[in-house]
Amino acid sequence: MTILTGKGYLIVNEFKTIIDRKGTSSVKWDMTKTVFGKEDILPMWVADMDFLPPREVTESLKERLDHGIFGYTFVGDGPAEAIAGWVKKRHGWDIHTKWLQYSPGVVPAIGTIIQALTEPGDKVLVQSPVYTPFFSMTEENGRVIENAPLVYENGTYSISFTEFEESLKKGVKVFLLCNPHNPSGRVWTREELTKMADLCKKYDVIIVSDEIHSDLVYKSHTHIPIASIDESYQDMTITCIAPSKTFNLAGLQSSAMITPNKDFREKIAGVHKKQGFFTLNTFGITGMEAAYRHGERWLENILDYLSENAAITKSYVEEHLPDLHLVEPQGTYLLWIDCSKLGLTDDELKERLLEKGRLGLEPGPKYGKGGEGFVRMNIACPREILMDGLDRLLKALG
Ligand SMILES: Cc1ncc(COP(=O)(O)O)c(C=O)c1O
Repeated sequence: MTILTGKGYLIVNEFKTIIDRKGTSSVKWDMTKTVFGKEDILPMWVADMDFLPPREVTESLKERLDHGIFGYTFVGDGPAEAIAGWVKKRHGWDIHTKWLQYSPGVVPAIGTIIQALTEPGDKVLVQSPVYTPFFSMTEENGRVIENAPLVYENGTYSISFTEFEESLKKGVKVFLLCNPHNPSGRVWTREELTKMADLCKKYDVIIVSDEIHSDLVYKSHTHIPIASIDESYQDMTITCIAPSKTFNLAGLQSSAMITPNKDFREKIAGVHKKQGFFTLNTFGITGMEAAYRHGERWLENILDYLSENAAITKSYVEEHLPDLHLVEPQGTYLLWIDCSKLGLTDDELKERLLEKGRLGLEPGPKYGKGGEGFVRMNIACPREILMDGLDRLLKALG
């Protein structure tokens, strides 16, 4: 049901509808055989949502489609202004449109930045458990991982600044920050961000801040772009954002890098030139602009729905699976579940989930040191699918 209000469309119950994604070459739904070795499992792994994006995005894409000609398209002022407006409104950060560069995704952006600003053999700092491509983008490019793992204590995650500094002392060139953090769900506070940035400044380390989950933050937490805290941080940071997680547009392949540092931008442009990369997909450009211009109401609605999904999952786990611990998510729709009390190996955990539960979750070890004994569950789905997933989790691990 759709109600047109003074502020735009309010779509009631829009997230309840189950849309069959099978047969659309969906990585989540159609690649289960490749990834898990099975067809008939419920996929709650890769980070996209089983929801329609904002209606305005689809309408703008249809309009572009109806035009009928899909020649080379550049990213003009419209999308750049939409991004700058969004970042200012949602995160209080004033950026100039000329600070923007584009990439088909945040992962390719990270690869490009590593190539542009480091040399083979240089050290790149990460905080495990963390999003797998942080490791692969570093290593595939012949750079070396330096890890300052997060501290997991009393069911929550924090940073050991002593360990962080010890790592920086080893001659790190780039720090790959994940804010909000996938998979822990932490939204770093101003104090934590300031401490990390001050230490990076002290040791002359460039910060690459992956803020792809920045819009998916639950009430009582606030995302702070690390670069926005201080002008000196801004100059040593490249921030990566995208409409893909926020508005469920991963297939449109568009993302942006933000930095006022002209030298960084020129080096990034140099790598793009070598790759022959010139512009984004026409539909990516159209969808990105529409999302950042018109997606706010949809985002508010989805955040409500996702926080209910998170609360339902938490109480389900507490009631039926008391040996599991759900790390309270401050942001992202990816729940990080500690199964270590079950005393199973990671292989046994995976086997139980697949054989008994017929449930496809991300195995914790994928995220590096500290991921052992955990699984990551994607709850960005209609409630009916969520309940099915929770029942399968119970069947597998109860
Ligand atoms: C932290 C983080 N960065 C990047 C990505 C993927 O970015 P893209 O699809 O734009 O390459 C994800 C997807 O889950 C993610 O969690």
